[in-house]
Amino acid sequence: MRRYAPFALALLLALSACAGWVAAARAGGAAPATQTQTQTQKQTPLRVLPDGANPHPVRLELPARRPLSAVARLGRVLFFDTALSGSGRMSCASCHDPRHAYAPANARSVQFGGGNLRRPGVRAVPSLEYLYRQQNFSIGPDNEENETVTLQQLVALGRRAVRVRKTARDTRASAANLVPQGGLFWDGRVNTLQQQAGGPLFNPLEMDGGSVATLARKLRRAPYASRFANLFGPAVLREPRLLVSEALFALARYQIEDPSFHPFDSKYDAWLQGKARFTPREARGYLAFNDPRKGDCAACHVDQPGPDGQPPLFTDTQYEALGVPRNPQIPANRDAHYFDLGLCGPYRRDLARQTRYCGMFLTPTLRNVATRHAFFHNGVYHHLAQVLAFYDDRDTRPWRIYPIVDGRVDRFDDLPARYRANVDRVDPPFDRQRGQAPPMSRRDMRDIIAFLRTLDDGWHAPAATGPR
Ligand code: HEC
Ligand code: HEC
Repeated sequence: MRRYAPFALALLLALSACAGWVAAARAGGAAPATQTQTQTQKQTPLRVLPDGANPHPVRLELPARRPLSAVARLGRVLFFDTALSGSGRMSCASCHDPRHAYAPANARSVQFGGGNLRRPGVRAVPSLEYLYRQQNFSIGPDNEENETVTLQQLVALGRRAVRVRKTARDTRASAANLVPQGGLFWDGRVNTLQQQAGGPLFNPLEMDGGSVATLARKLRRAPYASRFANLFGPAVLREPRLLVSEALFALARYQIEDPSFHPFDSKYDAWLQGKARFTPREARGYLAFNDPRKGDCAACHVDQPGPDGQPPLFTDTQYEALGVPRNPQIPANRDAHYFDLGLCGPYRRDLARQTRYCGMFLTPTLRNVATRHAFFHNGVYHHLAQVLAFYDDRDTRPWRIYPIVDGRVDRFDDLPARYRANVDRVDPPFDRQRGQAPPMSRRDMRDIIAFLRTLDDGWHAPAATGPR
C-alpha cells in the first residue's frame, strides 16, 4: 500500500524547492506543480443524487477476511484475560470494550485503573478500531525510503517548510506537508501495536501488571501457557523477556487480523459502493462536512477513498493543536501547573524541545464516533453537539467555549500562554475572527451529526420488501 509518493522525492523537493515552496505558501499561492505528484485523491466535485445515492460508486479494497491465525487466537485470549493485571480484575477489554467499538462503555473522561482500580487515567481512551493501516510516526510522509533519516533531521526539515492550509476539497497539500503524522496513542509515542500493548500492561495507572518477570510468571501459569510453547517453541517459557514479547506480538496480531477491528460495514461504506442511500439530512451533512465554508471536517478527517480503492479512515493521521478547553474532570488537572502537551510531553519525551509541537494531538478516526461518550484527548465533551459547537464557536464566540478570567475570555486555557500561538488558526473552520458569523448553522451541525452516524459499523440494508 502506498498512499504517498516515495519519500525520497518529497525530501528532494523539500531540499531543492523548499524556499520557493515556502514563499508560495506564504503568498497564499498553491504549492509548485511538482507537489501535485503527491496527490492522494481525485478531484471530482462532490455530489449526492436527488434520491440520496452516490453518483460515483466505487469498489472498496477491503481487508481480506480469513480465519484467525493461531497467534491471533492466543492474542484474543490475552485481550480478555483479567489475570494479567495487578488488580486481577482488569483486561484490555475493560477499557476497550468490543461492544463499544473498543472504547469504554461508560462516559467518564478518563478511566480508573491500577492495583486497586482507583487510579484515574490522564487521557480519554481511544477506540482501537481502524489502526491496521497506521504508519510509523514521522515528520512528513512516511514510508520505507525515509527509514534512514532520523526524527531530528526530519524536525529540522519540517522547521523550514511552511505548512499549507488544509481544506476538504484539496487534501494534496496536507499529504505533502512536512508535519508530524502516524504513530499510536494521542501523541504517537509508539509505532507498532506490539510495542503499544506493553504500555497499558505495565502502566501503573492502567493494568499495572508489574515487571516483566511478574507478567512472565503469570503467563507461565496461565491455562493457555502450552499454546506459547506450541507456537514459539518450549524455550519461550524459560525466557521472561521473550515470553512477554510474544504475548505482545499475539495481542497485536489479534487486533490486526480480527475483522471486528476494521469491519467497514457502516452505512457510509455501503453508500460509497452504491448500496445505500442517504436520507436528505445525511446528504446535507455529508456536503457540509466537506464544504470548506462550513465544517471543512474532511480536510483532516478524510472521507474519500484512496485512488486504489482504500476505504477512507476519517483521519489524515496528522497532528494538530486545536486548543480544546481544559477538562476539570481530570484529577491531574487540579494541579494548575500540569499540562498535557501531546507531542512535546509529558508522556513522550523525544520532542520536548520542539516547542512548536506543544499542544498537538493525533487526529482520530471518526468511524464509530457516534458510539463514543468522551471526545478529544482530554475527554472534555460527552456529546457530539458539544464537539460541533466547539468547532463553530471557538474563534467566533470563544466565550461560549472557555472560562472567563478577570473579565477576559481565557482562550486555549489548556495550554500555557507561551504555547497558545501553536493552535491552528489557518485551516477552516478555524480561520474566522471573533464577531464574524460562525461557519455552521444549527441545521448544518445537526446534519453533520446525522452524517457522522452513518459511520457506525454494523449497518444492515433495510429488508427488501416482499416475502423472503
Ligand atoms: C485503564 C484503561 C486501559 C486499559 C486497561 C487498556 N488501555 Fe489501551 N488505552 C488507554 C488509554 C487512556 C489510551 C490513550 C493513551 C495515550 O494516548 O497516551 C489507550 C491507547 C491504546 C492504543 C492506541 C490507540 C490509538 O488510537 O492510537 C492501543 C492500540 C491500546 N490502547 C491497546 C490496548 C491493549 C492491547 C490493552 C491490553 C493489554 C489495553 N490497551 C488496555 C486505556 C487503556
Ligand atoms: C485542522 C484539522 C481538523 C479539522 C478541520 C477538523 N478536525 Fe476534528 N479533530 C482534529 C484533531 C487534531 C482532533 C483531536 C484533538 C484533540 O484531542 O486535542 C479532532 C477530534 C475530533 C473529534 C473527537 C473524536 C474522538 O474520538 O475523541 C470529533 C468528533 C471531531 N474531531 C469531529 C470533527 C468535525 C465534525 C469537524 C468539522 C466540523 C472536524 N472534526 C474538523 C482535527 C480536525
